[in-house]
Amino acid sequence: MSHAIIIDTDPGQDDAIAILLALASPEIEVLGVTAVAGNVPLALTQANARRVVELAGRADVPVCAGADRPLIRPLVTAEYVHGKTGLDGADLPAPAAPLDQRHAADFIVETVMGREPGTVTLCPLAPLTNVALALAKEPRIASRLAGIVLMGGAMREGGNVTPAAEFNIYVDPEAAARVFACGADITFVPLDCTHQALTTAARTAAIRALDTRVARAVAGWMDFFERFDEAKYGTDGGPLHDPLVIAALLAPDLFAQKRVAVSIETDSPLTRGMSVVDWWGVTGAEPNATMLHAVDADGFFALLTERLARL
Ligand code: BDR
Ligand code: CA
Repeated sequence: MSHAIIIDTDPGQDDAIAILLALASPEIEVLGVTAVAGNVPLALTQANARRVVELAGRADVPVCAGADRPLIRPLVTAEYVHGKTGLDGADLPAPAAPLDQRHAADFIVETVMGREPGTVTLCPLAPLTNVALALAKEPRIASRLAGIVLMGGAMREGGNVTPAAEFNIYVDPEAAARVFACGADITFVPLDCTHQALTTAARTAAIRALDTRVARAVAGWMDFFERFDEAKYGTDGGPLHDPLVIAALLAPDLFAQKRVAVSIETDSPLTRGMSVVDWWGVTGAEPNATMLHAVDADGFFALLTERLARL
């Protein structure tokens, strides 16, 4: 099956690897990349997104900048995971191609409304600010999208930035609440799934052994990005979150899924940004999302390695 996608992102090493996986895959047409503030501020995420498309030899893909802060809260960043630049671990040159001058939210609206209904999939890998702004500008995109496949949330795994919340939802919970309630066909990849996809030494070595410019950058990013989570979780490697969104389009059979009702906590200071999943259907609420709760990690890394070899 083929997919035309927009990637909304805050690169971030795992975001960068997700973008490369999409660009390496013939089943996927990347219509554009929209950057948002998240792992690092917007000035860095938009430049990093351009660095990554250029690393893949795809300077033709438009990169737009969007929100420089969440809808109503101050920005929280994660340099402690991703480094000062957001892409520490590989030295990429400054981008040569200019930033597309459209605002990310306008780009999303124009692209979705300008193409046939049901043909564009939105892939958010970051706080959902740009997506919420696009929905506010043009609510009809919700029913016009083929779907939204996003990385965010956590259920049994607990949070990675507070005990209750995963980073992407925590940074802009008001935006996330709007997105989960928008009526689009939503699939989400929470920490329960991403914490199964670890960048073990053997998996990183297999990518490094490809010995291309792209593979060396990816292996460098993995080495850098995993050190924080290895120390935190005591694992061999860290979770490679965002590329699972792209893998879900390419190889849905790698995942186990369940339709669930999800609500986002926006009020409680203790559990702000928690994705409350009605796993057992105790509320009687109609499911509003498909949760990918498990992944065949070896299958995923085999796919990633095979695709990266094409770049
Ligand atoms: C998410 O937060 C970011 O640090 C990663 O890029 C990923 O999108 C994981 O919680
Ligand atoms: Ca991200």
